[in-house]
Amino acid sequence: MVGRGGLMKKFILLGATQGMGRALARRMVGRGDHVFLLGIGPDELARSAADLTQRGGGTTPVQVAICDLEAPETFETALDAAYAALGTVDGIVVTAGMFGTQEQLEADPEFCRRMLTVNFAHTVMFCEAARKRLLTHGGGTLCAFSSVAGDRGRKPVVLYGASKAGLSAYLEALDHRYHAAGLRTVCVKPGFVRTPMTEGLKPPPFAGEPDGVARDVLRAIDRAKPVVYTPRIWALVMTIIRTLPRLIMRKVGF
Ligand SMILES: NC(=O)c1ccc[n+]([C@@H]2O[C@H](COP(=O)([O-])OP(=O)(O)OC[C@H]3O[C@@H](n4cnc5c(N)ncnc54)[C@H](OP(=O)(O)O)[C@@H]3O)[C@@H](O)[C@H]2O)c1
Repeated sequence: MVGRGGLMKKFILLGATQGMGRALARRMVGRGDHVFLLGIGPDELARSAADLTQRGGGTTPVQVAICDLEAPETFETALDAAYAALGTVDGIVVTAGMFGTQEQLEADPEFCRRMLTVNFAHTVMFCEAARKRLLTHGGGTLCAFSSVAGDRGRKPVVLYGASKAGLSAYLEALDHRYHAAGLRTVCVKPGFVRTPMTEGLKPPPFAGEPDGVARDVLRAIDRAKPVVYTPRIWALVMTIIRTLPRLIMRKVGF
């Protein structure tokens, strides 16, 4: 089968059982790509695999393996299973992540520690394992979901934003270090997107939908774009926010 951007591609997806990851997986199989799902819930993985198999035409069953960002000992066995099933791999995408409001995270230090560990330390460790595999096999794309929340230190997202700032910095540096060796990094910076993660939160202006994000991200992966803001209006918004002096940032509630 031939995908829109050329030949069919093979992707490993961590965290594609709902939200933006699920939308991305659906777009991939819809154009003929093969995907292998990594995630935490066996039931959710099985349900997603059945859905994607059917959307892909039913000829290539989508396979799965357990991989938990709270349990780094699962990373290598999960990647082993994915490589054994796919043979060659064009890209590895991490959409898995945790969120808590600033109030929730300040009130619960253990929850805060878990969020910081999952979103930063363990995502980076998973990306390290992933980029080693990709480089060993001649290169490929490593795509991870950061956030606009990591671009500036802001009052409403002190802790979550810090976890994403660290991830964005890691991905930028990884791009510099391994681009010549064949690694393509894609750092996705969504604005507010309506997913299970943001359920119950009041959507701000420019709130996006998972499928629109998936379209932007797939295009960025195909074109090896190192940074993608999505919905695209956030590129303009963050260009302005990044230039605001600290004095103004301190005064505004944003
Ligand atoms: N939604 C937004 O407005 C927004 C904005 C900026 C950035 N982001 C970032 O974009 C990414 C995707 O967000 P989303 O809104 O699509 O989230 P979501 O709907 O909550 O989906 C998150 C996915 O991560 C998986 N996951 C959670 N904890 C995990 C763990 N410990 N190990 C492995 N997988 C785990 C979930 O699996 P289960 O289904 O099994 O729980 C689910 O598949 C996240 O990194 C998020 O921080 C989101």
